[in-house]
Amino acid sequence: MASVTYMDATRVYPGADHPAVNKLHLEIGDGEFMVLVGPSGCGKSTSLRMLAGLEDVNSGSVWIGDRDVTDLPPKDRDIAMVFQNYALYPHMTVSENMGFALKMAGLNKDQRDRRVKEAAELLGLTDLLARKPKNLSGGQRQRVAMGRAIVRNPQVFLMDEPLSNLDAKLRVQTRTQIAALQSRLGVTTVYVTHDQVEAMTMGDRVAVMKDGLLQQVASPLSLYEEPANLFVAGFIGSPAMTLLKGTAVDGGVQIGDTLIPVARDVLSKASTAKVVLGVRPEHLAVTEDDGVVVNVTTVEQTGADAFVHATLPGSSDQQVVARLTNQTPPPRGAQIRLTADPAKLHVFDAATQQRIP
Ligand SMILES: Nc1ncnc2c1ncn2[C@@H]1O[C@H](COP(=O)(O)OP(=O)(O)OP(=O)(O)O)[C@@H](O)[C@H]1O
Ligand SMILES: [Mg+2]
Repeated sequence: MASVTYMDATRVYPGADHPAVNKLHLEIGDGEFMVLVGPSGCGKSTSLRMLAGLEDVNSGSVWIGDRDVTDLPPKDRDIAMVFQNYALYPHMTVSENMGFALKMAGLNKDQRDRRVKEAAELLGLTDLLARKPKNLSGGQRQRVAMGRAIVRNPQVFLMDEPLSNLDAKLRVQTRTQIAALQSRLGVTTVYVTHDQVEAMTMGDRVAVMKDGLLQQVASPLSLYEEPANLFVAGFIGSPAMTLLKGTAVDGGVQIGDTLIPVARDVLSKASTAKVVLGVRPEHLAVTEDDGVVVNVTTVEQTGADAFVHATLPGSSDQQVVARLTNQTPPPRGAQIRLTADPAKLHVFDAATQQRIP
């Protein structure tokens, strides 16, 4: 086992005018499950490939434990990777697929069989060892791909969207299995996904990236409760945090015709009067007489909850989303009042995009 450290690691692809990954500085603890998440093209796979040795590092360095691996070939890094397209060898059995890398590494049959058997037990594949991949379900194939990585007993697991070929239900099951397996094996893992729910449910910590830049790295809960900036606030959470552009005035923030009370000492920290107010759907409640008047535009009933989408008078281009639980939602077109728990209101500086603590 080992820690992983990116020290200002930068990758500029030939001919590109800006880096795909820009001075990534990230320290991953020994045995930690770190998830890299962000929208398509933000540099997740490039970051992982730099760690794997499949992509040059143009400046900065990458470390595994106390070894600077920046210029080491992939085979000398003691890592194992699981990709989205984990093509199994179709003519080999599950057992042969799992043992193939060990064979290449020169282990004898007894050694190989023992490691394959151990991994198969961990993954619930013992009864399938003699089958060919075409006779397996998608989820079983995915477990064989995991098994190929596990038998190598590496210092670090690298996984790049390993669940994206599975259907939604299987993905949820498998992500729980992978997280449980990882904590049992205790092998440092770097896991890439664009799915923020996957990131939040699997990671010990989550690193959010955008345009090649690390935005924030924190535990799932602190990302959710204390997003560093507007991007993280909008990216983590579903439905997304309501973000309303307004102007700091005496007594609060003016949004359209509505004045929302916000403490002066918070607003005084903003670099200009332009601020953004953020509130999560579950922190809004319908009230009878106090609160802010909004116009309901749509209602999404999910069974347990209803998500009410509404707009503020004089600001109809900005949507508010409230989650209502155990109550009959208002009809579309209704005018209702909403209050927010003041402690759960986030204020962002519109100029710097940063959250004001
Ligand atoms: N081999 C390459 N040559 C040139 N540019 C590349 C290469 N691979 C990736 N890029 C560019 O680098 C940026 C980051 O790509 P990367 O594959 O790391 O993104 P990603 O976050 O993994 O996205 P996705 O979620 O779509 O897989 C993108 O702008 C991409 O177009
Ligand atoms: Mg990718």
